[in-house]
Amino acid sequence: MNVIIGSDHGGFELKETCREFMEALSDCDVTDAGTFSEDSMDYPLVAHKVAKAVSEGEFARGILICGTGIGMSVVANRHPGVRACLCHNLFTAKLSRVHNDANILVMGGRVIGKGIAIEMVELFLRTPFEGGRHERRLDQIETD
Ligand code: RB5
Repeated sequence: MNVIIGSDHGGFELKETCREFMEALSDCDVTDAGTFSEDSMDYPLVAHKVAKAVSEGEFARGILICGTGIGMSVVANRHPGVRACLCHNLFTAKLSRVHNDANILVMGGRVIGKGIAIEMVELFLRTPFEGGRHERRLDQIETD
């Protein structure tokens, strides 16, 4: 699976941890969309870059991390076909795939720890969408 990951300064440290984890997986091809330091930067720039790449089918999945995850999810969900899900624990990470067919996992670098984040990334990559009644609900999301 090819995955694009990005963060702002608030998510930089956790982004590095998640990227390194995915690089060690044999079946994961990771692209880092930045940011590349803890210098302050504007989260919409990276959110648009990652969400556009997923929206256009260049990557199967994306991961976005800012301080809270809120700004990244607001921006990413403006892109057609993007389902960016802000998750805080294993339950929400799993259900974002099972019920919402999440194609971007969003996390808060100032909210969750590294250990739980890595487990969430693994769930996000490995958990299949359940389909069925959830497929109908996804069809109702797009507004035009
Ligand atoms: C940056 O200070 C912070 O606002 C950003 O990382 C994010 O939490 C925005 O939603």
